[in-house]
Amino acid sequence: MSLPLVTERLLLRWPIESDFTDLSTLWTDPRVAQFMDDYGPRDEPGVRQWLDTHLGGGGQDPSHLQLILTRRTDSAVVGWLGLGTSQDPLADWNFGYAVHPSHRANGYATEALKAALTYCHTSLSINTIWGECHQANKASAHVMTSAGMQETTPTPTSRRFLYPPTPDPRSGSRTHTESWITVKNSAQPQPKSTNGPTPGGFPLVAWRHPLRR
Ligand SMILES: CC(C)(COP(=O)(O)OP(=O)(O)OC[C@H]1O[C@@H](n2cnc3c(N)ncnc32)[C@H](O)[C@@H]1OP(=O)(O)O)[C@@H](O)C(=O)NCCC(=O)NCCS
Repeated sequence: MSLPLVTERLLLRWPIESDFTDLSTLWTDPRVAQFMDDYGPRDEPGVRQWLDTHLGGGGQDPSHLQLILTRRTDSAVVGWLGLGTSQDPLADWNFGYAVHPSHRANGYATEALKAALTYCHTSLSINTIWGECHQANKASAHVMTSAGMQETTPTPTSRRFLYPPTPDPRSGSRTHTESWITVKNSAQPQPKSTNGPTPGGFPLVAWRHPLRR
């Protein structure tokens, strides 16, 4: 498997110059910003900066992926999915994503996330990936579950999900995920990339999940 990723209905590729208008429409929509906290560009200059950082980014910085979700039938840009090195020991990488409101509830986020998780795990050898969402973000929680992630211990404000679900038959009374987290947290810290543009994709802000500061 290699980039671009091709799913049943989508093509997932690095950003290109002609994405500017569509990404501006996406990122400046308050319905996208609603659950993103302070992550991501919020105006056209911010989108310009984001795009300049990632144009032609494929293969140059192994610490992250910025995927533009395009519909195969007409090349329409329907959303964005960014994955990169996690600053939290919960897993090696984490991610954020957004689908434009006019394209929601078509299963696009689920389809894209499923393909990207598989790609990162099998082709990039990223062992573990986590995601989280606001407690109220039922759509995002549903996407992560549908994409094959396993829900784990929440924080007071967010729900968290792991990939792969990694069942451990020796976990005794603990859930498989709790057992797995214990193992993961006691492991040596993973090396973090310090090269190139900030992995998360938004310049000057180190990669972290939208809900992580
Ligand atoms: C989260 C988001 C990316 C989902 O995109 P999408 O393409 O609509 O997602 P999908 O269509 O793949 O799946 C959404 C699922 O949630 C369900 N859903 C949507 N709103 C829901 C709600 N309020 N309660 C319960 N389920 C809901 C849909 O019915 C769908 O389920 P289904 O696949 O069983 O039909 C999109 O809503 C979005 O961009 N939100 C704003 C940004 C954001 O929250 N990003 C994630 C930050 S953690």
